[in-house]
Amino acid sequence: MTTKINGYGDDLTVNGIRIGDLSPLAHEKIEKKMGGLNYKPLENVVVSHVQDSSTLICRKPDNNDVNKYVEEELLDGLCCYSAVNQGQLNKSIVDAVIHHLSVEKLPTVPRSIRHKYMSAFLMAATSITNMDRVVPKVAGVEAPELMFKLARRWAYVKKGVPSNEAIIVAAKGNFHGRTMTAISLSDDKESKEDFGPFLPGIELVPFNNYEALEEIFKEKGDKIAAFLAEPIQGEAGVIVPDEDYWPKVKRLCEKYNILLALDEVQTGFGRTGYNFAHQLYNVKPDIMGCGKAAGGGILPVSFVAGSDEVVSVLTPGSEGSTFGGYPLACVVSVYAIKALIDQNLAKNANIRGSQLMNHYNDIMLEFPDKIKEVRGKGLLTAFEMHNQPLLDGHKVSVNLLKKGIYAKETHHSTVRIAPALTIEAWQIDEMADGIRTIIKSL
Ligand SMILES: Cc1ncc(COP(=O)(O)O)c(C=O)c1O
Repeated sequence: MTTKINGYGDDLTVNGIRIGDLSPLAHEKIEKKMGGLNYKPLENVVVSHVQDSSTLICRKPDNNDVNKYVEEELLDGLCCYSAVNQGQLNKSIVDAVIHHLSVEKLPTVPRSIRHKYMSAFLMAATSITNMDRVVPKVAGVEAPELMFKLARRWAYVKKGVPSNEAIIVAAKGNFHGRTMTAISLSDDKESKEDFGPFLPGIELVPFNNYEALEEIFKEKGDKIAAFLAEPIQGEAGVIVPDEDYWPKVKRLCEKYNILLALDEVQTGFGRTGYNFAHQLYNVKPDIMGCGKAAGGGILPVSFVAGSDEVVSVLTPGSEGSTFGGYPLACVVSVYAIKALIDQNLAKNANIRGSQLMNHYNDIMLEFPDKIKEVRGKGLLTAFEMHNQPLLDGHKVSVNLLKKGIYAKETHHSTVRIAPALTIEAWQIDEMADGIRTIIKSL
């Protein structure tokens, strides 16, 4: 079979099938037939393109003919799980990419030869994170993955843990991604089923439970390399710990010479109202992992930033990847950091986050029988409904979609809203109006 490809956008045609001719149903059929069956996207909607930093144009079935579609605007309440904090097609990042590709002309070289943009990336990333060293990676999951490796090696080389006996402590309910290491850390049944055997040397403690952590540190502290956790658990439904949790944990880690390894893949880059969520609690991790918005919503970029003491345990041949820190990614990440600073994204997250939380609180006051709790920091927010069959997060997401708002449930009764940090006041009001109407109708 020959493979024929022509055209751009709607005219992109593969083996005679033009993308612009496909209805939402036709897209679904192709995905189900030819793709992995590892996602269950919202039905009857296909995103076509971006209108502005927080608005997507999507295609929904034409009421008169399911084989046709109509286009509608969708206010994006998720911004790709915080990968697009800087807003879709952030102009300064896009300009940098276009300039880089068309004028500077250095998309890709391997790490076995130096390129000049690596220095820019390292200077920008160490500066914004206030860390000594940074190691670039690609997908978000590679950040916790590398923290895991760094912590183990540090434990053997610096702490003196006997070979192959290091323990990593993680938090119940965590989400660190989908690799074998990440799912070995997880206690989510669905993500682990039939993928065993899992990595040894992992212990889980309840999140936001200082006493449980203290107990395991007391019992096994001489073999524990790190406590690896999200500062605020995102996928678990935006679980915000007590204000004194992280300061106490940091002191405990110091007492037992255990690394604090924070996964800021979702909470970083301004999301919680600070550049990084650990700043909310005035603690500094030994190592931290970033991803998602580290690539400005344009490219997958992740990295681990950390102290010289920990990151310097890496030696040539012990770590690396073809696209980790390639020239284009470095430029994108430098400009993702520049946008974070120049456009005051953390501050905007704070202001718009308070506005959204005020709306949530009003809605909860109005419907106390439906809304159980509202949670959030900055623009990482969620509302949790009482656990009843009718108060179904998926149903809320589907109904919000009908109102032109894109959000997604995290669990049966929790809906997370985490829009771009460039979102405007009127768009927050519009989102809250939509939520209020849907909650009322349940
Ligand atoms: C805290 C955290 N770590 C890691 C990941 C994995 O990132 P990716 O899906 O880009 O591999 C995620 C993704 O949601 C996350 O929220």
